Amino acid sequence: MATAEQLKTLIKSHFGNDPDRFSTIALQIAAHEARQGHGDVANEIRIIIDHAKHKPVRITFHRELEDLVLETEPNHRLGELVLSDSMKNRIQRILKEYKQQHKLKKHGLVHRRKLLLTGPPGTGKTMTASIIAKQLSLPFYTILMDKLVTKYMGETSAKLRQIFDLISKQQGVYLFDEFDAIGAERGLDNDVGEMRRVLNAFLQFIEQDKSDSLIIAATNNLTLLDQALFRRFDDVLHYELPTLKESAVLIDNRLGTFKGQFSSEKIAMHATKLSHGEIAQACDDAIKETILSDKQKVTREHLLAMLKDRHNAYGKRRI
Ligand SMILES: Nc1ncnc2c1ncn2[C@@H]1O[C@H](COP(=O)(O)OP(=O)(O)O)[C@@H](O)[C@H]1O
Ligand SMILES: [Mg+2]
Repeated sequence: MATAEQLKTLIKSHFGNDPDRFSTIALQIAAHEARQGHGDVANEIRIIIDHAKHKPVRITFHRELEDLVLETEPNHRLGELVLSDSMKNRIQRILKEYKQQHKLKKHGLVHRRKLLLTGPPGTGKTMTASIIAKQLSLPFYTILMDKLVTKYMGETSAKLRQIFDLISKQQGVYLFDEFDAIGAERGLDNDVGEMRRVLNAFLQFIEQDKSDSLIIAATNNLTLLDQALFRRFDDVLHYELPTLKESAVLIDNRLGTFKGQFSSEKIAMHATKLSHGEIAQACDDAIKETILSDKQKVTREHLLAMLKDRHNAYGKRRI
């Protein structure tokens, strides 16, 4: 049994909110029990402490950050992602390096944790970030960049500092989605100056960050950004519109059991210039129509019509 002195210190550290002290005393009690020949009790105590230590600490957000940082439950699976093999390999490498970071650390190497994703809208950048979070069992946070700029004009750098404080305190995957919002044109000249300063501050924060979190910046608009930006990131992934083959796989995946008797490869020829997101949407629309007209399968004609709708939705992008 623990000594009276140990029990008192344990209770004090609990009410004094001193978790480190609490664990130390608890470990002392375990050692004491082991010496008394109570090996099982000692082990149980150690296991309890071990579990408690590995439980992720939930930090409640600064009230000022509540409207800028959104936590979402990642709901995509890695298998859903349709990308070239080389892109998939690069994503796998990021996951592998993260999971085995301690091995790299022993040799003075750091895992990839600052990523830049670029490419047209709807090609899977946001999806990739959420999948990375899911695969690594980390919470997934999105920073609402447009809000940061529009609502906090003039105090954006201070807000960014708070966000990076959060990144170092709360381990997670942080997505700065469409982060070029802070570099984008804002009509008025003096605003442009402010934007550039903010963009530079952002890049400096990224460069200085030494946290355990993964930082992912995604942009649709690379030309706006300074090329020198690349060196601040450990990896840059370029997303592209799907190839014919990738479009066909996407159609197969998306239609699943609703797919009728037609060749996805052939129909994919009518989906050129559409993004993954647009093709997925056309498939979902075709499924909806099929269900609503009490049919079982999506026909070729049906899907073609929906793909055409997608093309028309973006007038300039006709085949
Ligand atoms: N590479 C992809 N593979 C499979 N589905 C995709 C892919 N890219 C996009 N999608 C579909 O389109 C939707 C929007 O994609 P998103 O990741 O938000 O695009 P981005 O962030 O590049 O604009 C996703 O939720 C998914 O349903
Ligand atoms: Mg996106």
